[in-house]
Amino acid sequence: MLTHEENRLLTRVGAGTPMGNLMRRYWQPVAAVAELDETPTKQVRLMGEDLALYKDTSGGYGLMDLHCPHRRADMSYGLVEANGLRCNYHGWLFDAQGACTEQPFEEIAHPEARFKDKVTIKAYPVQAKAGLLWAYLGPLPAPELWDWDVYHETGYKTIVFGHIPCNWLQCAENDIDPVHFEWLHAHWSLDLQGRRAGRTIPTHLEVAFEEFEWGIEYKRLLNNSPEWQVGRVALWPNALYTGHFEYRVPIDDENTLSVCWNNEPLPGDEPFEQPRIPYFWSPIKDPATGRWINTHTVNQDIIAWVGQGTVSDRENEHLGASDEGVIMLRRRFLNDLRRIEESGVDPKGILRDPSRNHAMYLPRSSGGERLANSTRAAGPRRLGVAGLYYGLPKEIEDDMLRVIASRKREG
Ligand code: FES
Ligand SMILES: [Fe+2]
Repeated sequence: MLTHEENRLLTRVGAGTPMGNLMRRYWQPVAAVAELDETPTKQVRLMGEDLALYKDTSGGYGLMDLHCPHRRADMSYGLVEANGLRCNYHGWLFDAQGACTEQPFEEIAHPEARFKDKVTIKAYPVQAKAGLLWAYLGPLPAPELWDWDVYHETGYKTIVFGHIPCNWLQCAENDIDPVHFEWLHAHWSLDLQGRRAGRTIPTHLEVAFEEFEWGIEYKRLLNNSPEWQVGRVALWPNALYTGHFEYRVPIDDENTLSVCWNNEPLPGDEPFEQPRIPYFWSPIKDPATGRWINTHTVNQDIIAWVGQGTVSDRENEHLGASDEGVIMLRRRFLNDLRRIEESGVDPKGILRDPSRNHAMYLPRSSGGERLANSTRAAGPRRLGVAGLYYGLPKEIEDDMLRVIASRKREG
């Protein structure tokens, strides 16, 4: 359990809060590259800040205050230009650093006043990587934006977004919770399908947790294999990595943006170029019943998280042996909060050395019998992304299957 004060400290991420200061020191994924190629501006809410994300006509990205400093119009309806975003109300133009570079009428009425030099807009750096747009809201200079090895591997990549109406931390705590697989994704999942009776579901015998540079790796020993399953990672500070990434991005204290990045392995050895990484929004509620969708792995996780309440009441929880990783995660955050406050040093998982930042190794899931298989019906190959999230659009599924079939023919 946590005290009321500790729970507030760890969950609140608004500007100026201790955890908000910590989370702002990490790049956070906020949108897909493909989204801005379709529509060059987008309203974004990140850690309680309302912002306008854009791609200008030179191909540069920017993120600025949603409200124009002139008379507060919505910049996400602005005009993208060669170098920045222009407010649609009176035409003030701002660059990616937040400088006001044009004020059309002011420059006619009082050119000598150079009013534009006195006006700025809040602006943050944005980078594109792995088909995602990443924002950095912390003190400058920004650290490196991690370049993981899996980004460079052959595979069909997809991005899946979801809006989760609860605090980000309970989602992130799930990243270090091995035992929930056995119940949420095996027993309960099979029960929902009417397939639990008579099934033997592997039981966790032991769990282990190991902190390393980029997060905490967890391991499990099941009763169906003498070999430990290893290589699943709570990636710092707010993601799960098991071959795909699931980021829990704080929209504000009561809402979380789920950003998942998937890499479907492809047959054959030849390289695969994917000029556009497709994305989709995965619904979490069934409009017909008003109930949460429970058929897919991440949807099941979401049911657990929203079920904990908007902000989980950690004063009234009872942690046990299965929660060792959750305790490690909280302790590490609390230590880093103290370190930032006392000395301003970088918290865990920050990379400053560009020479290291290429295809960096992350642990791989391996060993043991795969617990998840216990929930899968036998049959033809199922796409990973199709099992994880509800609502894979038919055009993306068809394209993936087409690519897989064409490579099988060539191979
Ligand atoms: S409100 Fe933006 S230019 Fe006037
Ligand atoms: Fe899960």
